[in-house]
Amino acid sequence: MQYIKIGNVNIEKSLALAPMAGVADRAYRIMCKKFGCSYVVSEMVSAKGLCYNDAKTKELCTVTDIERPMAIQLFGSEPEFMSRAVEIVNDFKPDIIDINMGCPVPKVVNIGCGSALMKDIKTAFAVAESAVRVSKSPVTVKFRSGWDNDSINAVEFAKAVESAGVSAIAVHGRTREQFYSGNADWNIISEVKQNVSIPVIGNGDVVDFKSCMDMYDSTGCDLVMTGRGSYGNPFIFDEIRYGLNNKEYTYPDAEKKMKIMLEHIRLILDLSEKPENIAIREARKISAWYMNGCYGSAKFRAKCYTLDSFEQAEKLAEEFVEVQKSHISF
Ligand SMILES: Cc1cc2nc3c(=O)[nH]c(=O)nc-3n(C[C@H](O)[C@H](O)[C@H](O)COP(=O)(O)O)c2cc1C
Repeated sequence: MQYIKIGNVNIEKSLALAPMAGVADRAYRIMCKKFGCSYVVSEMVSAKGLCYNDAKTKELCTVTDIERPMAIQLFGSEPEFMSRAVEIVNDFKPDIIDINMGCPVPKVVNIGCGSALMKDIKTAFAVAESAVRVSKSPVTVKFRSGWDNDSINAVEFAKAVESAGVSAIAVHGRTREQFYSGNADWNIISEVKQNVSIPVIGNGDVVDFKSCMDMYDSTGCDLVMTGRGSYGNPFIFDEIRYGLNNKEYTYPDAEKKMKIMLEHIRLILDLSEKPENIAIREARKISAWYMNGCYGSAKFRAKCYTLDSFEQAEKLAEEFVEVQKSHISF
C-alpha cells in the first residue's frame, strides 16, 4: 500500500471519509475506520463557537485514538477568531486541522464562512494564514470548484491558500450554486493538481472501486475522499483496499449487512449521552441507508424512521434478512 504525507502525517493512499455534519459523527467514523478508511475529518465546528466556550462544540473536537489519523474541521471568516480557535483545538491533539471553505448552506454562507470565502480570496488567505501561524498540526483547506459557473476559481484559490502555508487541499468539484446536485467536475481537480505543489485530495461522486480509480487516474490527485458513497456502506473502504491489492471483493450479504448495521446503531447509542428512545432517532437514517437498494427497501426504510429502541432495530434486521432470503429463493 502506498502512503501520502500531509505535513508529518502519513496517510494510506486508499480512500478517505469526507466531513459530513449531522452524519459523520464519531460512531460513523469509527465504523468507516473499522472497514479500512484511511483518514477521517470531524463534522465542521464553528471557530467562533469554540472561542465562546461552547461545550457541545468542544465535544465535537475530541479525537479518539481509533479514529487517527483524523482532522478537526473548523469554519470561520475572521482571522482573529480562527487563530484563537486553533489554539484551543491544539489541546485536542488532532493530526490535522482542516478549514471548511466549501460549505454551501445559507446559515454558514450568510455569515461570510464556508464557500462564501471563495468570493473573497483575500480573506480566505488571511483566515488560512492565521490558522497556519498558531497550529501545532498541519493545516489543510477544503473548498469547491467556485461560487457558481461564472466564477470557477479553484486554481487561483488553491494557489492563494498554498501561499498561506497550508499543507494540503481538498477539492470538491462542484460549485456552491450546485450544492450537491449535478455531477462533480473532476477536470477542475486535475487543473488544481497541476498548479500546486502540496497534496491534493479529490472529492465528489466516488461510490465504488471503479469511480475511485477513475478519480485517481483522471485527476492525478494524491488521495480520494468520499462522502455519500459511504452511506450505509462502510464496506466501500474495504472494497478499495481489496482492489488496490488486486484482490476481488465480495460485498456482504444481507445477514452480514444487518449485523454491521446493528453494531453501528449500538455504537451510536453507547456514545450518546441521551436516553435510548431519543438517541435512536439519530440512528434512523443510518439504518435506512443500510437497507437501500435491496428487495422491498422502500418499505423497510419507512420502518426505520419509526424505530424507538434497539430491540425494534434487531427485529427489523431479522425481518429484513428473512425477506431477502425468501426473495432469493424465488
Ligand atoms: C450531509 C452532508 C454534510 C456535509 N457536511 C460537511 C462539512 O461539515 N464539512 C465539509 O467540508 N463538507 C461537508 N459536506 C460535503 C462533503 O464533505 C463532500 O464534499 C460532498 O458530499 C461531495 O462528496 P460526495 O459526492 O462523495 O458525497 C457535507 C455533505 C453532506 C452530504
